[in-house]
Amino acid sequence: MGFYSQELVEEIRSRSDIVDVVSGYIKLQRKGSSYVCVCPFHNDHNPSMNVNRPRQMYYCFSCGAGGDVFKFVMDYENLSFPEAVKVLADRAGIALPEREDSREERESRDLKERILEVNKLAAQFYYYMLRQPDGRQAYEYLTGRGLSQETIRSFGLGCSGKRGNELYQYLKSKGYSDSLLKESGLMNADEKRGMYDRFWNRVMFPIMDTRSRVIGFGGRVMGDAKPKYLNSPETRAFDKSRNLYGLHLARASRKPNMILCEGYMDVIALHQAGFNQAVASLGTAFTQQQSVILKRYTNEVLLTYDSDDAGVRAAARAIPILKDAGLRARVINMEPYKDPDEFIRALGAEEFQKRIDSAESSFFFELRILERNYDLKDPESKTAFFREVSGKLLEFEAGIERNNYIEATAARYHLSAEQLRKLVSQTGERLGGMPRAAAPKPPPGRKKPDDAEPAAQRLLLGWMSADEKHFRSISRYVEPEDFTDPLCRKVVELLREQTESGMFQPASLYQYFTEEEEQKKLSAALGAQIPVPDGRAEEEKALQELILRVKQQSIAWQTENMEPGDMDTLMKIVRKRREIEKLHISLD
Ligand code: UTP
Ligand code: MN
Repeated sequence: MGFYSQELVEEIRSRSDIVDVVSGYIKLQRKGSSYVCVCPFHNDHNPSMNVNRPRQMYYCFSCGAGGDVFKFVMDYENLSFPEAVKVLADRAGIALPEREDSREERESRDLKERILEVNKLAAQFYYYMLRQPDGRQAYEYLTGRGLSQETIRSFGLGCSGKRGNELYQYLKSKGYSDSLLKESGLMNADEKRGMYDRFWNRVMFPIMDTRSRVIGFGGRVMGDAKPKYLNSPETRAFDKSRNLYGLHLARASRKPNMILCEGYMDVIALHQAGFNQAVASLGTAFTQQQSVILKRYTNEVLLTYDSDDAGVRAAARAIPILKDAGLRARVINMEPYKDPDEFIRALGAEEFQKRIDSAESSFFFELRILERNYDLKDPESKTAFFREVSGKLLEFEAGIERNNYIEATAARYHLSAEQLRKLVSQTGERLGGMPRAAAPKPPPGRKKPDDAEPAAQRLLLGWMSADEKHFRSISRYVEPEDFTDPLCRKVVELLREQTESGMFQPASLYQYFTEEEEQKKLSAALGAQIPVPDGRAEEEKALQELILRVKQQSIAWQTENMEPGDMDTLMKIVRKRREIEKLHISLD
């Protein structure tokens, strides 16, 4: 923050209606006075997210995600606050002031932006190096692996220098500080050599985010040296668990699925062969966050992990993660080749398409792996195997899908479908009627049930922040001190300041709470579902009860925490008790 003026931020907010903005990303459904949608921040089939126009806020009742329009864009697009401001300003046609490039300003600019700037220059440098005499070997390496000019260009491939300080020299000549260069992950430093390039004599793969900004690099040796690939470390700009190699291209592929593979070269080879829906994780295991990101673009993921043991294990680990995100998964068989790059080089795109068409459902892939733990020739072991299979079959929601899989499984193992169905229902009963895996899991980050105390306070706060009129009338009876919960109290104070300055805007409060935990609490408070009683009198009655509860809690708390002999506080408490007795709420 402190980046753009408050007025400018509010101007952008006022021209970025949350319903319009969110509906640019997700389909919204009208429901009464607000809108609902399937929450993009956790795996859900139900419309748990509420988008509220009067409050200019969104809130998911299932996972607790919530915030204002800036927060939404930040979380959805994985951006920092200034970046989200820029996105919304562009969308609203508001020009952002040119920031002058004085040294001081440059130093104070958001670290992430500065790293992105350095990364971009580095990518351009590597790209240029590939066309220099020193880059000849790298260029031949890439074309030797079958990459076309066009592919090299569209992935921005390049190479690092042979001496090991070329990039450092270049970036120094552009005036960047050593400390920034270190933060960028592009340089190493040690006492003997000082600063030097992390990557040297490697083919360079820039890694881009969905907005095509260079967030990091992978670098491959051209021979057999180790490590084969060296990657940028995580930096302020590079979060390996939330990005996928090739996604900036794959997201626009308009294919019915996404192809998930292991290596940079696999992604590139697949794109070149026309499978431009291919992505890879970044030298790390596939994560839950990555699966949620993929779910935004597709419902089905095809796995093309290496056909060696490590690849099979990696695929087996990725499948439950994909399923948790609500994705269907199938596994492509690449035998007898090791990876899609080798497969396509040997057999071509048409053959690969056939493998896509005949890809095995993840269920049967998992069964084949499971089989290895059992001896199907031994009757006892065989029974145990089928019990385990039944457990897996229970993971399908009942109905056609489970039935189809029961039949297909029975056919595969030469059982009668009837037998298997019986075993499945026995297993289901043994697991307590409720299939374990199908029981609703709490989505990640779900709030724990809180004490009744903050719950009442949050509910009251929800009521107060409904609109300015409610805030004004309830404020006549409630003061910030009535809230014992520090966050609630702070929010009431801030809302009071806003009302006094004539700009009641609960959604703008997110900027005061920067911690994830606080933002969640704020969302819970501002998003609290207030009962909508029929009629003014009913509402006043409900409100009266709630205010009484909050005030009594506050008095109880003060009494408990009072210094013995503190007459001032004691008098206050006595006065408050009397006030409460006379309290009569009117919403006029
Ligand atoms: P592979 O060894 O399967 O790479 O590693 P590949 O893509 O087939 O490599 P080529 O075809 O020999 O060029 C798969 C991925 O694992 C990560 C990289 O992201 C690589 O693309 N990896 C592998 C590393 O990060 N470091 C390594 O040393 C090896
Ligand atoms: Mn390979």
